[in-house]
Amino acid sequence: MYRNYPLNHSNTFGLDVMAAWAVKIPDLKDLEKITKERVFMEEKHLILGGGSNCLFLDDYFEGLAILIENKGISITNETDESVAVSVAAGEDWAGFVEKMVNSGYGGLENLSLIPGKVGAAPMQNIGAYGVELKDVFNSLQAFDLETGDLVDFNKEACDFGYRSSIFKTTLRNRFVILSVEFLLNKRPVLNLGYGSIKQELERMGVDKPGIIEVSQAVINIRKSKLPDPAELGNAGSFFKNPVVHNLVFNDLKSEYPDIVGYPDHEGATKLAAGWLIEKAGWKGYRSGDAGVHHKQALVLVNYGKATGRDIYGLAMQIQHSVKEKFGVHIEPEVNLI
Ligand code: FAD
Ligand code: EPU
Repeated sequence: MYRNYPLNHSNTFGLDVMAAWAVKIPDLKDLEKITKERVFMEEKHLILGGGSNCLFLDDYFEGLAILIENKGISITNETDESVAVSVAAGEDWAGFVEKMVNSGYGGLENLSLIPGKVGAAPMQNIGAYGVELKDVFNSLQAFDLETGDLVDFNKEACDFGYRSSIFKTTLRNRFVILSVEFLLNKRPVLNLGYGSIKQELERMGVDKPGIIEVSQAVINIRKSKLPDPAELGNAGSFFKNPVVHNLVFNDLKSEYPDIVGYPDHEGATKLAAGWLIEKAGWKGYRSGDAGVHHKQALVLVNYGKATGRDIYGLAMQIQHSVKEKFGVHIEPEVNLI
């Protein structure tokens, strides 16, 4: 157990933050132990992976940070067609995906290079380039901080949605996800629906892609527009893409013919929040050390010494201005701590 533990390297906004208490969890038994200690019973707690989807509003977290560090990847079932792989929550997501791609197991390649740890991935059903975690998810095992039970969740029980799951809604902060099992394909079916992947494969001169090439294309696209948190603090998309009724979309489209939207569930359209923010004039904006990325307006950045409140204040200004201009509410995707 650590007292006054710095979280500067545990949040990709690069904020100067400290936790009153912190504990590292390399194993289930450490978790069982901590729930019996006074600090756990008396203080609020925060489960933390890589901190790449969190914004700390204050520079001191008055509670216990539970740092997930368990490791291990194992094959739990195998047929001629598929393989079930179980991976510990503390494994690095991008490293795990790279290993699976290099082993010839398909399904995760479009999710290459997403920062963070495996345990947080189901929490918000991570997604990119036409694939979401739920598409390859089989089950997960989690520790109930209230009862001390180990509970298995299948796909249905996780209640996955767009950047959402039961762990982000009704069960937030109650379960520590310990391991996740994926069902991967030994005869991969490529997912090239996202236009820019095809373009990038062409640019790379690849005409018969496999999962390694698709993974590389995704990595190239991501590097070309998303800032690397090691160089510029950020947490990826700050807001979710808003889903609106088609009637609202049609009205907007008649006023703004180049608005970007994709068909969502029946009768609804998902708008590109990056487009709305850019058209509201925010792309490349900077106030002090808080800013809006110049290549991707959905990404808020810390140029160095911004505080969580500076970034949050900017986010609220953007939210307000998008509502004023387009009548559309955009909701934060990052977890506000
Ligand atoms: P953290 O930030 O540590 O935690 C996120 C939330 O999950 C917190 O509420 C935390 O309490 C909870 N949590 C963490 N671990 C556990 C656990 N073991 N059990 C229960 N709850 C837990 N996301 C996408 O979906 N698609 C993208 O394309 C994408 N691109 C990104 C690009 C950049 C440059 C960055 C910085 C972020 C991007 N993200 C993206 C967001 C982020 O990478 C993901 O949300 C990632 O899964 C967060 O992992 P983490 O370990 O850092 O989570
Ligand atoms: N756009 C603009 N201006 C901008 C940014 C985007 O006009 O500044 C428009 C462009 O037309 C572009 C479209 O928006 O074609 C979509 O942009 P992009 O392909 O970059 O995707 P996004 O909708 O902004 C989402 C996810 C990302 C994910 C990418 C790729 C959300 C909230 N974000 O971004 O996830 O990597 O698609 O699939 O759904 C994250 O969650 O942190 C994240 C980075």
